[in-house]
Amino acid sequence: MRRRLHAWQVLLWWHHFFLLWITIDGQARYTIPEELKQGSVVGNISKDLGLVVSELYQRKLRITSEAGKQYFTVDLAKGELVVSERIDREGLCGPKSPCLLPLEVVIENPLQLHRVDIEIQDINDNSPEFPTKKRY
Ligand SMILES: *[C@@H]1O[C@H](CO)[C@@H](O)[C@H](O)[C@H]1NC(C)=O
Repeated sequence: MRRRLHAWQVLLWWHHFFLLWITIDGQARYTIPEELKQGSVVGNISKDLGLVVSELYQRKLRITSEAGKQYFTVDLAKGELVVSERIDREGLCGPKSPCLLPLEVVIENPLQLHRVDIEIQDINDNSPEFPTKKRY
């Protein structure tokens, strides 16, 4: 079957290319356990990306996620990345390991994009294994 390129696909490509091209002024990576409570601090994103906390609000810092859902927010007063929704590792990655959630941090004036990868650890990884069959 012949595949046709639709205008929106071209746009999407262009968008991705453009993002890649101007991207990566800074990068950070955090590892968090899954099912962190809402409001948990992931890290000081301002420090790790080399941003000035007092500018975050003016520069309209925002986070976009390829996952669609907004699991994180940034506390603009403190420069901290905060969990805004409980993350279900299974739902996000299934059995895939490591489970990476890529985020883009966008700030304006001048426009900068930062990439932040969140690795979500399976909290069951370290727990003891239980035998599947019970013995009596
Ligand atoms: C985060 O880092 C920035 C820059 O180093 C610092 O000014 C700010 O106080 C830090 N925030 C917290 C909550 O520690």
